[in-house]
Amino acid sequence: MIPVLIGKHVVLGVTGSIACYKALDLASKLTQAGALVEVIMTHGASQFVTPLAFRSLTHRQVTTSLSCPQSEHSIEHVALAEKADVVVVAPATAHCIAKAALGLADDPLTTTLLATQAPIIIAPAMDGHMYQNPATQHNLEKLHARGMTIVGPDKGRLASGITGIGRLIETQQLIGHIRAILGRNGYLANKTIVISAGGTQEHIDPARMITNRSSGKMGYALAEAARDQGARTILISAPTSLSDPVAVQVIKVETALEMQQQVNQVASKAEALIMAAAVSDYRPKTTATRKLKKDSNSMDIELVKNPDILVETKGSMVKVGFAAESNDLIENAKLKLVQKGLDLIVANDITTPNGGFGTDTNKVVIISKNGVEENFPLMSKESVAHQILDRIRVLLDKFSPC
Ligand code: C5P
Repeated sequence: MIPVLIGKHVVLGVTGSIACYKALDLASKLTQAGALVEVIMTHGASQFVTPLAFRSLTHRQVTTSLSCPQSEHSIEHVALAEKADVVVVAPATAHCIAKAALGLADDPLTTTLLATQAPIIIAPAMDGHMYQNPATQHNLEKLHARGMTIVGPDKGRLASGITGIGRLIETQQLIGHIRAILGRNGYLANKTIVISAGGTQEHIDPARMITNRSSGKMGYALAEAARDQGARTILISAPTSLSDPVAVQVIKVETALEMQQQVNQVASKAEALIMAAAVSDYRPKTTATRKLKKDSNSMDIELVKNPDILVETKGSMVKVGFAAESNDLIENAKLKLVQKGLDLIVANDITTPNGGFGTDTNKVVIISKNGVEENFPLMSKESVAHQILDRIRVLLDKFSPC
């Protein structure tokens, strides 16, 4: 379940492109995340996939015509438009885009596009030349100027066999856009949250480095959760294998010093700083410009201490740190909370099965400056992220004037 999607009416318009099969995955993932997915299919779309497939995945009626006998919405043809929290057209063909640009309303989808007051996302998918044709480009510009959000298309292999622009954007990206739009007026709207993620890399020579086992998943989950609540989110990320979250400003760094420099640039404008990154405590005093040779039986590398970014970042923002510990969890975390001048510390025992580096779950204790200690069971990192942000929100409410 994804909080920003739970109980939301997502009207999914599906038009006649081979990328319809991806819309099945989108409908399924949105439903699993808690959204109420109302599918409207054009005639062309039902040539590629059946309404039954969508109905089976969403457990809801599918609308296929303005007088659709099997649809509960058949009489009131604008019912879906009114119900919608967001309307998403994915895939959107050149033909559907052209009809929308003209304001035609000859099927349930174009009627809904005209009638709805909800935000609209258009995800084009078509042959590259059709997409690049000035007619399509002009139509997309019109829709954009009317306030619709155009996402994609991507470059890649197209159904025609050629490589070019025109692929429907990936499902996860599309869900990111839907989440961002649904959350834009959330509790953290007008707030800036800076989040660090990943394990820093300290270079020994061109081939080797000191790093750690952080996957970045906790920090990325925090960035997505902050964005979902409407925050202007800045993610300062050490190298990870994760995709950039949608609608988040991502700044890539490698070393602790680079991370500190970027945090300094943006933290003064932020209401909260969450340091989820595993920052290397030490770095090699010098980085060799050539690969070191193994010509002796031992090697000494002199290390110097990195600055503590949390301690050295000054300002009135809410500060949140993490304490990844293998022993004396609470004692060590409380000490760091005080030493680093934090408002909250998130302590996790990295020896807990499925609760440490690289996993999708985490088991944490959130300790606040005033001594409140909250012990959570093993949860998804997304859920942990929401718990942390809920507490930051309370702290920000306390500080901000009414
Ligand atoms: O002291 P320790 O590394 O365990 O503290 C962890 C917390 O401090 C994390 O939130 C981490 O991002 C932050 N930290 C930092 N600068 C460092 C080391 C850790 O901001 N040099």
